[in-house]
Amino acid sequence: MSKTQTIPMTAAGPEAAAGTAQFLTPVVLGLQALAVNGKQAHWNVRGANFIAIHELLDQVVASAQASADLAAERIVALGLPVDARVSTVAAKTSSGVPAGFAQWQDEITAVVADMDVVIADVQAAIDGLDEVDLTSQDVAIAIKADLEKQRWFLSAHLAA
Ligand SMILES: [Fe+2]
Repeated sequence: MSKTQTIPMTAAGPEAAAGTAQFLTPVVLGLQALAVNGKQAHWNVRGANFIAIHELLDQVVASAQASADLAAERIVALGLPVDARVSTVAAKTSSGVPAGFAQWQDEITAVVADMDVVIADVQAAIDGLDEVDLTSQDVAIAIKADLEKQRWFLSAHLAA
C-alpha cells in the first residue's frame, strides 16, 4: 500500500490569499483590458507621429500582458483562482480608445486615461496589501513602476 503525503498548496494563510485576490484581481482585469485596447490603438493610430506611437503602443501592450501575468500568478500562487475571461474583463472595465482611425494625440490621451484607471487600482492594491501580504504588495509596487514608465513614454509626446 502506498502512502500519499499531502502538503498544503501554499504557505500563505487564507487571509493573505483572500486579500491578495481582492486587491490584485481588478489590476489583472484592468491590465488585460489595457493590452487589448492598446492593440486597438496600435492598429488605428494615424498622423505625423504614426511610427513612434504605433511601436510604443506595442510596448505598452507587452508590458500590460507581462504585468497581468505577474499579478494573476501571485493570486494563484496563494491558492485562489483567477477569473479573467473576456466576458469578465468586458463587464468590469471600460475604455475611451476610439472604435476607428484616430489621430495620435487622441489615441495617446485615451490610452493614458485608461492607464490612469489601472494605476489607481494598483495604488489601492499597494495601500490595501500593506497589512495583508507584503510579497503581494511588492508585486503591485513593481507593476506600478512599470505602468508609470510606460505612461511617461506615451504622455511625453504631448508634453510642452
Ligand atoms: Fe503590430
